[in-house]
Amino acid sequence: MIRTWLTNTFGLTVPVVSAPMAGVSGGALAAAVSAAGGLGMVGFAAGTGEQLRAELDIAGASGKPYGVGLLAWLLAKNDEPLDAAIESDAALVSVSYGPYAPYVERAQAAGKLVATQVGTLDDARAALAIGVDVIVVRGGEGGGHGRNEVATLPLLQAVLDAADVPVLAAGGIATGRGLAAVLAAGAAGAWVGTAFTVATEAATPDAGKQAVAAAGLADTTYTTVLDIGRGADWPAEFGGRALRHPYADKWHGREDELRANPEPMEEPVTWAGQAAGLVARPRPAADIVAELATAERYLGEVANRTDG
Ligand SMILES: Cc1cc2nc3c(=O)[nH]c(=O)nc-3n(C[C@H](O)[C@H](O)[C@H](O)COP(=O)(O)O)c2cc1C
Repeated sequence: MIRTWLTNTFGLTVPVVSAPMAGVSGGALAAAVSAAGGLGMVGFAAGTGEQLRAELDIAGASGKPYGVGLLAWLLAKNDEPLDAAIESDAALVSVSYGPYAPYVERAQAAGKLVATQVGTLDDARAALAIGVDVIVVRGGEGGGHGRNEVATLPLLQAVLDAADVPVLAAGGIATGRGLAAVLAAGAAGAWVGTAFTVATEAATPDAGKQAVAAAGLADTTYTTVLDIGRGADWPAEFGGRALRHPYADKWHGREDELRANPEPMEEPVTWAGQAAGLVARPRPAADIVAELATAERYLGEVANRTDG
């Protein structure tokens, strides 16, 4: 078994966190990941504290530790979900994207460990200054929202040198090989989103799961126009990575024109990162965790591999 700060702190058998993914990682996915030995996170965007509590109850039903991930720019409009997270048994609270410092303080004051996702070295330095407990290095190849300035591996190397708190790696990790790579670099574990979007327990619509499974490594796009099209007012610095989309093909690069003359977006968006190309089929979360756990084999071999 691989042991790291992540596994020791949360009693895991695999150093993997399933990323908070609003609309995808409800309580059912989080519970399934936690039951399989990882740390399952519930992702939540806008809504009431009661709605979040219902998902957290499902996540906690197995008695295993779980976490919750919130969006800072939405908490600025309504912080009820933060109270629900603080009052819950969640072992890890993630607050990302937007001015998150006040929420870190509140959650830590209530005894929670707090993580945030960073997309640049400056982001990481700010997170260290704010005093987060865990830094999630998120490269631009990752799925969903974030920055698109640096890829996972260069950012991970830089942040590991700069950080005095545990670091998790996110963006593009979907296999035991990927997990082994970031552990070997010094990360305490991986924070995996896209690979879990196809889990049986994920709330992703079936067509979305099939589309992720069919996608290749180069079939995603990073853009802000999908948010303009669906009327979501994400802060400008955070675009989103999704499977290729006709609306993005048409409007990417013409954002001002689109804002001036909004056009309705017909087709649904499937948020996913480059790791979609590593995902072959929908399957239970436990199988995905088991695949990631094969990292141990690659790490064992790494010092003595002479056969190419
Ligand atoms: C469908 C989807 C929804 C996401 N929603 C959230 C979210 O609600 N909150 C959050 O902090 N991150 C969210 N993310 C980003 C993930 O936390 C994580 O950074 C990313 O999935 C890691 O890269 P990967 O997809 O290559 O594994 C989302 C990602 C995806 C794919």
